[in-house]
Amino acid sequence: MAGIYIHIPYCRQACSYCDFHFSTSLKDKNALVNSIVREIELRRNYLQNNKLESVYFGGGTPSLLNRSEFETIFEALNKRFIYDNASEITIEANPDDISKENLEIWKHLGINRLSIGLQSFNDKELKWMNRAHNAKQSVNSVKMAQDEGFDNITIDLIYGSKFQDLKSWENTLLQTVSLNTQHISSYNLTIENKTVLGIQNAKGNEPSINDDLSSKQFLMMSDVLKQNNFIHYEISNFGKPGFFAKHNSNYWLQKEYLGLGPSAHSFNGTSRQWNIKNNSLYIKAIEQNTSYFEKEELSVSNRFNEYVLTRLRTIWGCNAQEIKQLFGEKIHAHFLKMINDKQKDFDENNGVYTLTTQARLYADGIASDFFIS
Ligand SMILES: C[S@@+](CC[C@H](N)C(=O)[O-])C[C@H]1O[C@@H](n2cnc3c(N)ncnc32)[C@H](O)[C@@H]1O
Ligand code: SF4
Repeated sequence: MAGIYIHIPYCRQACSYCDFHFSTSLKDKNALVNSIVREIELRRNYLQNNKLESVYFGGGTPSLLNRSEFETIFEALNKRFIYDNASEITIEANPDDISKENLEIWKHLGINRLSIGLQSFNDKELKWMNRAHNAKQSVNSVKMAQDEGFDNITIDLIYGSKFQDLKSWENTLLQTVSLNTQHISSYNLTIENKTVLGIQNAKGNEPSINDDLSSKQFLMMSDVLKQNNFIHYEISNFGKPGFFAKHNSNYWLQKEYLGLGPSAHSFNGTSRQWNIKNNSLYIKAIEQNTSYFEKEELSVSNRFNEYVLTRLRTIWGCNAQEIKQLFGEKIHAHFLKMINDKQKDFDENNGVYTLTTQARLYADGIASDFFIS
């Protein structure tokens, strides 16, 4: 079954590290919601059928939408798609938007999974990140959501900044575990060129990432979270049994998804397309019925490369028989030859090849060695 991703491109303030598409001016929020509704109509036949396993509101900050904006979008989805209690309906919610009132609204709308961006428990680090909340607020926000009956919560963390050494990272992990959520996503800080952090780093005012420390933090994270009943099912993702993210798992398992809103990507098995990354141009193009996306048809080699890149990040790994079926004999032979050259990086089970935890540190590099043109 397929999923829908809806991009809400607004944030209260710009975090110093973030290069996702968002605007801090909220003036066209209502118009953009109406454009998303129109895009739902325009693309109602994009997926092979209209049954949804997941709907994911990402951003930006979807928790900035008000009740009537959410209702407008859900009404449009209900008209064209089918989903039920078993479907995963997630919103990314920033701690500063989590209140009893909002939680009640979200629950009422059928949202059954919250992704809460904690990032850190260190107030100095949160300030440096230019987050709009402090650590106490974050912890309270998770508890409030649990009290309101949300029983599928994931937390976002970032590691690798100058504020974290190994000891403080271990404390962060243990604090996170004590919040008793079902899922954790934890990302190694990336310094992106156009962000405040990237600019300060280029001027020499902020240090680059210490890769050696980040690697140690990654291995520590894997150990500590595994000891606490989390399964390390994707490089940056940990879920308790039964709580892997359905939406993201679909991406990693090459299932089709429809992406709505500015900058959203879509995939239908044979092509990818991505919407324009500009709010007013997106609204205008949808209004005037002009083009608002670019599209790439995927060749067999593109699809094989993407398969290896995404699968090697997960516990599902690369399945040799599946590779033969999907991509043919020649690519299958190439895959097995590469596996043979890189045996030390892999575990094998019934023809399924997964990276060892140590090798996951270099997953993208290892995957790129398999690429064909
Ligand atoms: C695009 S944000 C949207 C979620 C929400 N607005 C928030 O801030 O919590 C998704 C996640 O990506 C991660 N992220 C964004 N930029 C990053 C970067 N440069 N390095 C590492 N993680 C990053 C953060 O953990 C963030 O929670
Ligand atoms: S991390 Fe989240 S809140 Fe911060 S700028 Fe990026 S999308 Fe917005």
